[in-house]
Amino acid sequence: MPRIYLSPPHMGPDERGLLLDAFDSNWVAPLGPHVDAFERELASFIGIGHAAALSSGTAALHLALLLVGVKPGDTVLTSTLTFAATANAITYAGATPVFIDADETTWNMSPALLAEELESAVAQGKRPAAVLVVDLYGQCADWDPIAAACARHGVPLIEDAAEALGATYRGRAAGTFGDVAAFSFNGNKIITTAGGGMLVSQRGDLVERARFLATQARDPAPHYEHSTIGYNYRLSNLLAAVGRGQLRVLGERVRQRRAIRARYRAALADTPGIAFPTEAAYGESNAWLTCIHVDANEFGATPAGIRKHLEARDIESRPLWKPMHLQPVFRHCRVVGGTVAAGLFATGLCLPSGSSLTPADLQLVVETLKSTPRDQPRAR
Ligand SMILES: Cc1ncc(COP(=O)(O)O)c(C=O)c1O
Repeated sequence: MPRIYLSPPHMGPDERGLLLDAFDSNWVAPLGPHVDAFERELASFIGIGHAAALSSGTAALHLALLLVGVKPGDTVLTSTLTFAATANAITYAGATPVFIDADETTWNMSPALLAEELESAVAQGKRPAAVLVVDLYGQCADWDPIAAACARHGVPLIEDAAEALGATYRGRAAGTFGDVAAFSFNGNKIITTAGGGMLVSQRGDLVERARFLATQARDPAPHYEHSTIGYNYRLSNLLAAVGRGQLRVLGERVRQRRAIRARYRAALADTPGIAFPTEAAYGESNAWLTCIHVDANEFGATPAGIRKHLEARDIESRPLWKPMHLQPVFRHCRVVGGTVAAGLFATGLCLPSGSSLTPADLQLVVETLKSTPRDQPRAR
């Protein structure tokens, strides 16, 4: 039996054809017609004015922070329950993250805690330079109260939509909520270019600036003239070609991942100690990863026990992101709350969720999970 991965790439014939077209055209460079077309097509898919294709989601976050004016010595409020790239990008800009706890139901940043922290930081004359909010595991954050709090205090808002391409919030697409947003096309994402990212904004001037910074900040001159520090962050034309093919099937990929989550729910509905987070009523998740809550007392084994048992049968599962405020590298950073994210980390598990997962694979995951040896004292 081949290994069942958490979220492997899922390619089709269009991707191959477009990649070969890019190769044969000799546009083998971090610019070219596929890069331009990928930007236009993604912007039009999510309904936003402008997009710049970049080498990674992390690069997009780094540039987003620079574009809204984050400077060394600043603070940036961000989600504690996220992948390290979110917080790392803040440090690349020379700023320090302040971590905000998650909401228990959506797992995304708590809008109430964010509003409180903004209020008290501004009252102390320590206005943060930006707020960077993650759409976790494919579900949008609760953008209305978050955007209102940022607007009230005049703080720029950045959306880390790396995991949420194809998701919606009150009928609007993920990636359209901040002043600037970032997507990732890393190999594990809902669509992938092996590695890549996209910076999007309604503001053409910001996206133009992102392209300038991403191509070593070359001033207009026939020779190489530089008055700003730049980066080498553009996406390859070959990879953009793959991205265009993937974008064509994005709607289908979202439906497939949502169907997988629904099947897991149905198959595990009667398993004591296993629960699923409820989808927020305000939108549609892209169901990038299906995650479960494990009550170790009730189920009889811990999430770690389940993970090891799945692994022994060559099935990949993963703990939830370890919150940033618990990471040694961010130990010195302030955290607002933190117990919700820590609790989710202790009880959560991400199951194989790739859109190419077959019903038979899913059945095997479920049966293996259910057969985990019970070594915890049961509550009842
Ligand atoms: C929430 C989040 N932000 C940022 C990133 C970084 O994206 P990339 O790997 O394309 O740099 C990822 C995933 O990789 C992510 O999950």
